[in-house]
Amino acid sequence: MEPTSRIIVALDFDNRRAADEVVDRLGEECRFYKVGLELLTAVGPGLIEDLVTKGKEVFLDLKLFEIPNSVAGAVRAAGALGVSMVTVHAMGGTGIMAAAVAAARDFPRLRVLALTVVTSMTSSDLADIGVTGSTETSAATSTSTEEQVLRLARLAEGAGCHGVIASPQEAGALRGVLGSNALIVTPGVALPGGSAGEHARSGTPGAAVAAGASHVVVGRSVTRAADPVAAFRLVRADLEP
Ligand code: C5P
Repeated sequence: MEPTSRIIVALDFDNRRAADEVVDRLGEECRFYKVGLELLTAVGPGLIEDLVTKGKEVFLDLKLFEIPNSVAGAVRAAGALGVSMVTVHAMGGTGIMAAAVAAARDFPRLRVLALTVVTSMTSSDLADIGVTGSTETSAATSTSTEEQVLRLARLAEGAGCHGVIASPQEAGALRGVLGSNALIVTPGVALPGGSAGEHARSGTPGAAVAAGASHVVVGRSVTRAADPVAAFRLVRADLEP
């Protein structure tokens, strides 16, 4: 896959004007955008239809965690908009992931990705929500984020998901577990030399892809840059062999 196809720019805005401005400035450079709950809720699905009409691919990051029937309905609605990727929480278990995959079958370009552990979470956050390993004597032990990511990725694969979302640091282990065809999409990437911000488990785009990521998601380091095109090109250069 050539570098540009691997880069997904996250349009995390609360208004259409700001999103349109970034899309216009990036022009032909960028082909893949992520639309999340903030932008979708603020401006509605028209923006997604317009991106698809312009020939852009859209990753609709719905992070679904609902009863299977509602998840299936949301996936069908996403498919009808023409998006290429939609997310479901792996923590919701096999039932909701399988419902999402079944609903996506009517939309040949739609891929269902399972969200494993958000990149800001640490082992201590997992312990706080009761995710702990257990020994044979049932004593709780701490579960590392990587163990939890791999466990959820296996569950997602079993449910038929096309891939997972994970941090750059888990990309290599995930590629080993999921094999060569799975999509591994990594947010939480920082520009080479940039700050990791609040991504607790971050890495550069090049390192993420070298480790096994199929796609990287970059947000503010491109969209809030004084020159988004220059920032996008930095990401692309980092992905060039
Ligand atoms: O930080 P940045 O602006 O590059 O974030 C881009 C996307 O990465 C966000 O839309 C968010 O969904 C995801 N993200 C994440 N974990 C974080 C921060 C952001 O998964 N800690």
